[in-house]
Amino acid sequence: MKKTTKFLIGLMIVTFSVTSAFAAIEKPDNYKKGKYLYKKNCKECHTKSASDKTMAQWERIYKKGEHGGGAAAWEKIDKDDLHRIFYYLYDHGKDSAQPETCG
Ligand code: HEC
Repeated sequence: MKKTTKFLIGLMIVTFSVTSAFAAIEKPDNYKKGKYLYKKNCKECHTKSASDKTMAQWERIYKKGEHGGGAAAWEKIDKDDLHRIFYYLYDHGKDSAQPETCG
């Protein structure tokens, strides 16, 4: 194998691992409203708290839009607000620096 080919493959692997390690839910504007928005929009059907799931689980649920309760419940919520809600859940997940059980 040519040296340049090896270098390019190595570079691709490094780039890939770095990007996945930093994959996260981006911090939205007014992210502090997330907790309130979560209570307002999700608590009528759920008693879950942020620390019920890991950060990676929240991220996956948000990015894949995995809502077993039907997409309709989420479609009614403003996109930015949904982002704030999930940032809150993610930021306070089971393995986060500040897991949150109440709220
Ligand atoms: C109209 C009622 C309703 C609303 C509002 C609602 N959900 Fe759900 N949700 C459900 C139902 C029903 C299920 C499927 C049953 C279950 O798994 O609890 C579900 C499933 C889920 C699941 C997957 C199940 C699990 O525990 O892994 C997650 C995560 C979730 N909802 C999060 C949310 C979040 C976050 C919000 C607010 C943005 C929300 N839901 C708003 C009814 C609702």
